[in-house]
Amino acid sequence: MEIVKASAPGKVILFGEHAVVYGVPAIAIPVHDARVTVVAQDAPLGSGIVLHNVTLRETWAFDPAVVNANPVSQIIGLVLHAANVQPPDLSITIDSSIPVASGLGSGAAVSAAVGDAVAQSCGVTLDREQLNALVYEIEKQHHGTPSGIDNTVIVYQQPIFFRREHPIEPISVLRPITFLVVDTGCSATTKQVVADVRRLRETQPRFTQTLLTEIEALVNLAHTALSEGDHHLLGNLMTQNHRLLQSLTVSSYELDHLVNVALDAGAYGAKLSGGGRGGNMIVLSSEDRLDDLSTALLEAGAVRVLRANLSP
Ligand code: MEV
Repeated sequence: MEIVKASAPGKVILFGEHAVVYGVPAIAIPVHDARVTVVAQDAPLGSGIVLHNVTLRETWAFDPAVVNANPVSQIIGLVLHAANVQPPDLSITIDSSIPVASGLGSGAAVSAAVGDAVAQSCGVTLDREQLNALVYEIEKQHHGTPSGIDNTVIVYQQPIFFRREHPIEPISVLRPITFLVVDTGCSATTKQVVADVRRLRETQPRFTQTLLTEIEALVNLAHTALSEGDHHLLGNLMTQNHRLLQSLTVSSYELDHLVNVALDAGAYGAKLSGGGRGGNMIVLSSEDRLDDLSTALLEAGAVRVLRANLSP
C-alpha cells in the first residue's frame, strides 16, 4: 500500500500586515512548532477520497460534484483539475496543531498540505509556485482580498520578504533569533478587519496613506536589521509597527495589554501579528528572558505561547 505524507507550518507576520494588501512589502516567517500533517494512503477500489480530520474529529467523502463544499474539497478539486486526473481511491488523514481562527494560517496550511499530498498520490509533481497559486485561489474564496503573503510563507516554508506582484525574496538571518507567538485567546475574522481597513482608506485616504508609507519605511529597516542580527533595533521597529497598526484601528484592548506587559517585562519589542483585533501578538527579547516573558504573558491572560525560531 502506498503511503504519502505532506506537511505545512503555521506562520506569523513580523512586519507589514494590512499594508501588504496595498503593495507595501512585508516580512513573514513560518512557525514550525505548529504544523498540519497529512497522510494519504491507497483505499479499496471504488471508495473515492475519504477524509478524516483528526483535530475536528470529522470524516467525510470528497464529492467531485460538490467541490465548493469546503476549502479542503476545493483544493482537492483544483489539484485534480491541474493534474488532469480522475479522483483516485484515497484515505486522507489531516492532523493539525495550528490553533484555528488565531491568525496563524491554519486554513492555508491545511490547503497546502492536502494539495501536496493529493498531487503526490496522483503521481504528479506540483512545484512550490504551482501549489502556491492553487492555495492562493482558496484563500481568495475565503478571505476576501488577501495579499497572498500567508499562503506564500506557508507553501515555501521559509522566511520571506514579500511584495505583491514581485518575485519572492527568501530572508536569511545572521544569527539565531526566537520570537514568542502569543495567543490572546480572542478570535477575529481577518476578512472583516481587512474590509474595515479598506473602508478607512476610502474615507480617510491621506491619513491612511501616511500610515502605509511609515509602515513601508519600518519594513525596509526591519529587513536590514534581521539580516544583520540587530535584535534591539528589530524589537524597537516591531513596537513602532504596532503603534501604526493601532492608528490603522486593527489592535484591541487584549493585544495592547499584552504588548505593554511584554515591554514592561523587558522585551526588545512587541506587536500584534496578522489581521489583528484578536489572534496573536509577537514578542522579541534576549534569549535568556524568553521563559520569564512567557510566564508573565500567560499570567496576564495569554492563552498560549509558541516559539518561532530562525537559524542562519
Ligand atoms: C493576514 O495574515 C495578513 C493581512 O495583511 C491580510 C493579507 O495580507 O492578506 C492582514
